[in-house]
Amino acid sequence: MGFFLTIEGCEGAGKTTAKGVVLQWLKAVGHEFVETREPGGTPLAEQLRSLVLSEHEEIVTDTTELLMVFAARCQNLSQRIEPALAEGKVVVCDRFTDATYAYQGGGRGIDEQRIAVLEQLVQGDRRPDMTLLLDIEPELGLARAKGRAIEQGGSLDRIEQEAIEFFHRVRNVYLERAERYPGQYVVVDGGQSIAEVEASIIKALRARLGNK
Ligand SMILES: Nc1ncnc2c1ncn2[C@@H]1O[C@H](COP(=O)(O)OP(=O)(O)O)[C@@H](O)[C@H]1O
Ligand SMILES: [Mg+2]
Repeated sequence: MGFFLTIEGCEGAGKTTAKGVVLQWLKAVGHEFVETREPGGTPLAEQLRSLVLSEHEEIVTDTTELLMVFAARCQNLSQRIEPALAEGKVVVCDRFTDATYAYQGGGRGIDEQRIAVLEQLVQGDRRPDMTLLLDIEPELGLARAKGRAIEQGGSLDRIEQEAIEFFHRVRNVYLERAERYPGQYVVVDGGQSIAEVEASIIKALRARLGNK
């Protein structure tokens, strides 16, 4: 019933670019799909996203941040992801709970077991069928993210402003999880050229989703 594909990686790793490649391939092959992102995906969840990413005059505790991302996820799952999977569609989500383990777990230092409790509460047994991890040196990814922010006339968000060590911890958790769940993860070297990244992604999609 359906296929749940998530895309993960640090800032600037190429997730949004990868999502474009995935959607184009799904269209060409003729799979019905729904695309979404986290935090976000519904009007309420997008509001929570803004709250997570913006600056506040008070301290945002790590647990508050964790609860906000899971509150957004609960909406996205119930309103968008589960209904689409029930209709047999492919759901493509830019970030999901692996990002929570990486950012709130690795980055902020929240115990993995506490995250697992919320994962069970919000998702039950729902887990991604496949996770594309765009792996990149955080320095390179952040340089790309900064370039994109300048291009779009924006600035770095609350998380993008973290120190480089934060992103090294994030990356390490992603890589640890990729080793722990080899059936779920496909690791793509995000430091390659866009054409090489695209070829690696299409190869992985063919292997898992075939030509219909
Ligand atoms: N493989 C690549 N090589 C060089 N630049 C890239 C590559 N992939 C993406 N980019 C560029 O880097 C920036 C960040 O890519 P993006 O896909 O938005 O990353 P993410 O969504 O992971 O933050 C964009 O300007 C994008 O065009
Ligand atoms: Mg992106």
